[in-house]
Amino acid sequence: MKRILFVCLGNICRSPAAEAVVRAKAGAAGQNLALDSAGTSDWHVGDAPYPPMIAAAAARGYDLAPLRARQVRGADFDGFDLIVAMDRANLAALERLRPAGNVTPLRLFLEAVPGAEVDEVPDPYYTRDFDATLDLIEKAADALLATLAQAG
Ligand code: 4NP
Repeated sequence: MKRILFVCLGNICRSPAAEAVVRAKAGAAGQNLALDSAGTSDWHVGDAPYPPMIAAAAARGYDLAPLRARQVRGADFDGFDLIVAMDRANLAALERLRPAGNVTPLRLFLEAVPGAEVDEVPDPYYTRDFDATLDLIEKAADALLATLAQAG
């Protein structure tokens, strides 16, 4: 089973949403994946996702409420087969945290989307546009699952 970790800054908006959206879509498609999410910061460790993010996701049928924030740790690099960052700053932070010798693929989430106009998932904690972020996360989730299905 493939293990995938989604990473953003706080682990209360984008990466928990990505985790829940990919979980729902993978379940509907019968794809068996082990999914988790984490933040590069420790700012919200132990917190539930941000309430407006929970509400916007719930309106689309995704349940973020049981998730709790944690920080990325060195052991995650060997514990997952793929690590997916929401933006370039978090991708760079992951490269700095990567233990010597580890070769786990690190990707931007929107890299999976053919012809995507942007390569970063905007942070709705700042933009306040939770629906625009969810639109991109749903697109990237479909593209990621298609890529994984092709890879077998
Ligand atoms: P996230 O959004 O990285 O998508 O979880 C953020 C949440 C909280 C903060 C920054 C980004 N913060 O500054 O507390």
